Amino acid sequence: MWAGRFEKSLDRKADDFNSSIRFDCKMYEQDIIGSIAHAEMLAKQAIISVDDCVAIVGGLTQILNDIKSGKLEFDMSCEDIHMFVEAELTRRIGDAGKRLHTARSRNDQVALDIRMYLRDKSEDVIALLRQLISAIADKAEEGKAAILPGYTHLQRAQPITFGHHLLAYAQMFLRDISRVRDAVARMNYSPIGSCALAGTTYNTDRRYEAEKLGFYGITQNSIDGVSDRDFCVELMSAFSIIMMHLSRFSEEVILWSSWEFKFVELDDSYTTGSSIMPQKKNSDMAELVRGKTGRVYGDLFGLLTTLKGLPLAYNKDMQEDKEAVFDALETVEMCLDIFAPMIKTMRLIPENMYKAAQEGFINATDLADYLTKKGMPFRSAYKIVGQIVAECIEKHTVLDKLPLEAYKAHSDIFEEDLYVEISLETCVEKRISEGGTSVASVEHQLELVRKELES
Ligand code: ARG
Repeated sequence: MWAGRFEKSLDRKADDFNSSIRFDCKMYEQDIIGSIAHAEMLAKQAIISVDDCVAIVGGLTQILNDIKSGKLEFDMSCEDIHMFVEAELTRRIGDAGKRLHTARSRNDQVALDIRMYLRDKSEDVIALLRQLISAIADKAEEGKAAILPGYTHLQRAQPITFGHHLLAYAQMFLRDISRVRDAVARMNYSPIGSCALAGTTYNTDRRYEAEKLGFYGITQNSIDGVSDRDFCVELMSAFSIIMMHLSRFSEEVILWSSWEFKFVELDDSYTTGSSIMPQKKNSDMAELVRGKTGRVYGDLFGLLTTLKGLPLAYNKDMQEDKEAVFDALETVEMCLDIFAPMIKTMRLIPENMYKAAQEGFINATDLADYLTKKGMPFRSAYKIVGQIVAECIEKHTVLDKLPLEAYKAHSDIFEEDLYVEISLETCVEKRISEGGTSVASVEHQLELVRKELES
């Protein structure tokens, strides 16, 4: 391409090292569609002739179809996808192909392609998030009345329902959708026409080109237009948060499926055995998702580190953006896609959840509330209940089984009705505050989640 300036051609290894076609070929469709819009803009502005434009658009459309149908393979000896498309076009239509690169540079071209690629792919991520939220909502409905201990510090804390617990994840993934949308909203401005860095002397129409390509508008500063990769970093931050949510969820699924908990059983199709221990059923999918979280964080930090310290405007370092952002994207997609059916097919074991809820004094707060509602200051009630819990531990019993006389020895406020008040069912049913764990509240939360999914 630059033979005019150079006496020798690029060393073979240097050529391989420099080349990006093996990964940027993913953006062929965006590159071609971008070029079609560019040619049409050039013709509208009379920078190229209408005949040349027709030839270019025809040639590019053919190339696009041939790649899609498998008729045309990428030539890995080209430096990148932009060079490949231009060379193939020129091979097919001759001189008109050589006019396509007027009033643009690969610097603004690549910035355009990545924005378009990520904008398109973000829709796929959102669809996968929706699929997962919908699986969570269905499972939450199934477990809306299943009582289990809620934990703080991984110590049994208060009774909750399984549906309530699952819907916490629905909220996280709903926020993730809105984060991806935010990132796309800032990304969706066209850099094309920034050219190498300084703009161009041709009478171009950047807004026309941007509008044709579905952008909200154009980037305002040509130096920023070619140097900015904030949109990659932002999207990868959103992906990292998705992975963090998936990883916390994975950790719980792994705990719940262990013999120690046995609150759920994963379907055989999402678990593996051991090569030596015949009894094993391992939650490999959840473990891998948890593991891949580190990888996506790594992609984000890799790119942040690459960008740090780069002088304006384009530097070849920036070619490193694509492998990082593609890897993060593909990893998130893969994880979301495996997680939804894993949750969908997960079997709940409410008996075990309930058994765990009967241990650990998780109704102690409700016992203190019982005294408080009968007039005792909460702090005094808290202290008495603490003493009663200690007595139960000593006598190897639980609050529900301690006889009334034993309660009366601590305070004569206690009456027979305390047993109904501290039953697990009452503890759950009475938590009617908005967002709380009662079945009615969970049903309401479920309705809100489904409404948001529809909107
Ligand atoms: N393959 C390059 C990249 O991904 C395209 C831009 C190259 N520009 C340049 N001036 N070398 O960043």
